[in-house]
Amino acid sequence: MKYHIVTYGCQMNLHESEKIAGILKEKGYLSSAPIEEADIIVFNTCCIRENAENHAFGNIGALKKLKREKKGLIVAVGGCLVQEEGKAKLLKEKFPFIDILFGTHNLDELGDLIERKRAQKKSVVSIKEARSATEDGANPVRTSYPNAWVNIMYGCNNFCSYCIVPYVRGRERSRRAIDILREVEALVAEGYREITLLGQNVDSYRGEDGTTFPALLDAVASVEGNFRLRFMTSHPKDFSEELVAVMKKHDKICKHLHMPVQSGSNRILRLMNRRYTREKYLEDLALLRREIPDCEVTTDLIVAFPTETEEEFQETLSLVKEADFSSAFTFIYSPRTGTRAAEMEGRIADEVAKDRITRLVALVNEKTREKSAKYVGKRIEILCEDRDEKKGMYLGRDEYGRMGYFKSERDRVGEFVTLKITEANGISLYGEEV
Ligand code: 5AD
Ligand code: SF4
Repeated sequence: MKYHIVTYGCQMNLHESEKIAGILKEKGYLSSAPIEEADIIVFNTCCIRENAENHAFGNIGALKKLKREKKGLIVAVGGCLVQEEGKAKLLKEKFPFIDILFGTHNLDELGDLIERKRAQKKSVVSIKEARSATEDGANPVRTSYPNAWVNIMYGCNNFCSYCIVPYVRGRERSRRAIDILREVEALVAEGYREITLLGQNVDSYRGEDGTTFPALLDAVASVEGNFRLRFMTSHPKDFSEELVAVMKKHDKICKHLHMPVQSGSNRILRLMNRRYTREKYLEDLALLRREIPDCEVTTDLIVAFPTETEEEFQETLSLVKEADFSSAFTFIYSPRTGTRAAEMEGRIADEVAKDRITRLVALVNEKTREKSAKYVGKRIEILCEDRDEKKGMYLGRDEYGRMGYFKSERDRVGEFVTLKITEANGISLYGEEV
C-alpha cells in the first residue's frame, strides 16, 4: 500500500509531514507514490494566509472524482486549517468524501484514526483543543537528507495581532533538552550534515531546569561530528548578546540569522504587537555584525497592515536598505478571522497593497542581486543537497544561505563542496568545483 502527502506552508509543516509519513509506514503504507496511485492521501494544511487556505480547499475539491472511482481510497485532512475555528465543519460540508479530519494537536493519534476508519464507513474526526505533551512519539520518514529538522518547541504565546498561529498551534511547549540532544546525536551518527532546530519562536525555548535557547544551542553545537547547525525562527524582541556569543563561539553554527522584522514603522509595529522598535532592531543587527561581521540576516515583511500609510510603507523600504538583508520573504497582510488585526478598521485597498508589495519585492531583489554579484570570483563552501534535473546540475547552500549550483559527473548529495563562483543570478550562484 502506498501513500501521498500534500504539504502546505512552513518548514514546521514539512517536518510534520515527515512524521505523518512515519505513522503511515507503521500502518502498512510502505512507500510514497503519485496521487493517482496512492491508497491514502493526506493533506497537511496551513492557514497563515488566505491563499494557503484557498490552495488547500482547491486541491481537496479536485479529489472528488478520484475518490468516487477508487474504492478503498482514504482521504485525510490535517494541520492548521482543520484546527481553525469553524473550518473542520466547513470542510466536512464542502467535501463530504473526506474520511479523516485531524487537528494540529492530534498528530500522534493519526494511526488510531486510520484503524477506526478502516473499521467503519463513517468518517472520523478528532480535533483536540489543546495539548501539553511535547513528544509526539512519531518516528519521521525524513525526506530532506542531508538536512534534518528537529523540533525544539511547539506553539506560540506572542499573539502578534495579525497572526493565527497561537490560535491553531496553542501555547508554547518546549521539548526536553536531553531528548533534543539525543535526536541530534543520532542524526549526526546516521550521516545527516545539517541540523535545523525548529520553533515558532526559538528564543522562548525553556527546557527542563530552565535551559535557555542560547544554552541549548551551545549544547547542540558541542555534539561531535561533521555537521552544521541552523535554527529558526528568531523573534527580535528576544534578541540577546548570549545568542550572539554562542553563534560566535561555534564554527558549526551557520552565520545566518532569520529574524522577521515585519515592518519599518514603529506605529505599525505597535499595532502588530511586536514589542520592539525599528531603532532597537537596527541596534541589534549592528551588535550582531560587530561581533560576527559576515553574518547574513534574512527577514519577513508584511505590507498593507490596516491603516498603514504610504509614509509608513516608505519606512519599511528604508529599513530594508539600512538593514542590508540578504533576502526577505514578503507578504501582503491577510486578515485572519479571530485575530485582533482582523477587527481593525482601515483596511488597505487591494490595488494599494499590490503596488506596495511590487515596490518592496523590487527593492529586496535589487539588494539580493547586489549581494550575490559580490560573490563572483570568490569561493564558497556548500553542502550539496540535491540535483536539479532541468539544469543538469547539483545544488546546495552555503552557511550564509546562498544557493550554489555546479556540474558533477557523480552524485555529490551529502558532501561539502567548495565552488569558485563564475556567475550570479538573483540568490543563485553558479560555479565550478575547486
Ligand atoms: N498576513 C500576512 N502575513 C502573515 N504572516 C503571518 N501572519 C500573516 C498574515 N495574517 C507572515 C509573517 C510571519 C510569516 C511566517 O508569515 O511575516 O513572519
Ligand atoms: Fe505568529 Fe508572532 Fe507567534 Fe510568529 S511570533 S508565530 S508571527 S504570533
